[in-house]
Amino acid sequence: MKEATSPVADVQRVRLRLTLAYAGILALLQLAFSVVVYLLISLVVWQDVQPISDWPGMPEVARAMMFKDAMFLLVANIVGLALVAGAAFLLAKTALRPLEQAIALQRQFTNDASHDLRTPLAVIRTETSAALHNAGLTEEASERLVIIDEQAQRMERLIDQLLTLSHVDADSALEREPTDLVVVVNGVVRDLQPLAQARSIDLSVNRSESALVMGDELKLSQLVANLVDNAIKYSPERTRVEVGVWQARDAAFVAVADRGAGIPAEEQERIFLRFHRLDQARNGATTGPAGHGLGLPLCRWIARAHGGDIAVDSREGKGSIFTVRLPALDS
Ligand SMILES: Nc1ncnc2c1ncn2[C@@H]1O[C@H](COP(=O)(O)OP(=O)(O)OP(=O)(O)O)[C@@H](O)[C@H]1O
Ligand SMILES: [Mg+2]
Repeated sequence: MKEATSPVADVQRVRLRLTLAYAGILALLQLAFSVVVYLLISLVVWQDVQPISDWPGMPEVARAMMFKDAMFLLVANIVGLALVAGAAFLLAKTALRPLEQAIALQRQFTNDASHDLRTPLAVIRTETSAALHNAGLTEEASERLVIIDEQAQRMERLIDQLLTLSHVDADSALEREPTDLVVVVNGVVRDLQPLAQARSIDLSVNRSESALVMGDELKLSQLVANLVDNAIKYSPERTRVEVGVWQARDAAFVAVADRGAGIPAEEQERIFLRFHRLDQARNGATTGPAGHGLGLPLCRWIARAHGGDIAVDSREGKGSIFTVRLPALDS
């Protein structure tokens, strides 16, 4: 699906289409040229043969000449088609070069800017946290520091997502090794427990079976964390969020279920687009800094890069279940 692919893959697809289009146009021109040449040869042969056409055997000689010329044209066309394919590929490559360079430049910029922004942000967060521990702080001052910390946290998250996206855009390889999804899920649930508690949400693992995949543990943790983070963020307080992990035949599954506001049917595909967010008022999300609409596109990319996918089953007013399916590791 288009939105979950990377610009590099998109350019490759466009290059193929452009090559086929150029090849089609050039082949048509070549064909038209051959037809004209054949008609001209026929005309010349006919003019030569016409005055002596009543000589015995002349029609056969003329036919043989025409056949030879037709064969020659056929061979020339086959060779021409190979040349046309090569020329079309080169033309497409040349036409797309500036686009590829622009994409590479943009990716490099995102990467460099993200790295450079990390250090000052880490300093801001350390200093804010040190200041917050200062006993003599007024209530107003500590409230302001909390806001600064929240916003810095938000920026940190955005930077992490941008960095991952720049890897996505580079189609960079995953670092894959045998990974048990149950370990990933337990780790994420443990890490996000404070977030759930802050909203009085009961976060638990309701099905916890070993599910081995050949995966990039860090990216898979990011995937599950994004889903659990959403489930917590977009559910009303004092509801339940359940995470399940299991294996069935040749597939491994992780499901995250919430009892939030749900997602309207017409939005269920769009939430996987970059920067697409729903109206938060109807979501029941009351606290915490707003997101950037990058979590789910990343989740989908990570699932697909592992040869799997992610799907949502959601009913308005009832809640949502996000299910990730990955190929299980043959044991
Ligand atoms: N479990 C859910 N219940 C209801 N709505 C959801 C749920 N998960 C995602 N959404 C909707 O889909 C949108 C896109 O989600 P996504 O995770 O991509 O971005 P985000 O959470 O807004 O920001 P980010 O993840 O980048 O911090 C969200 O803004 C929200 O409106
Ligand atoms: Mg999110």
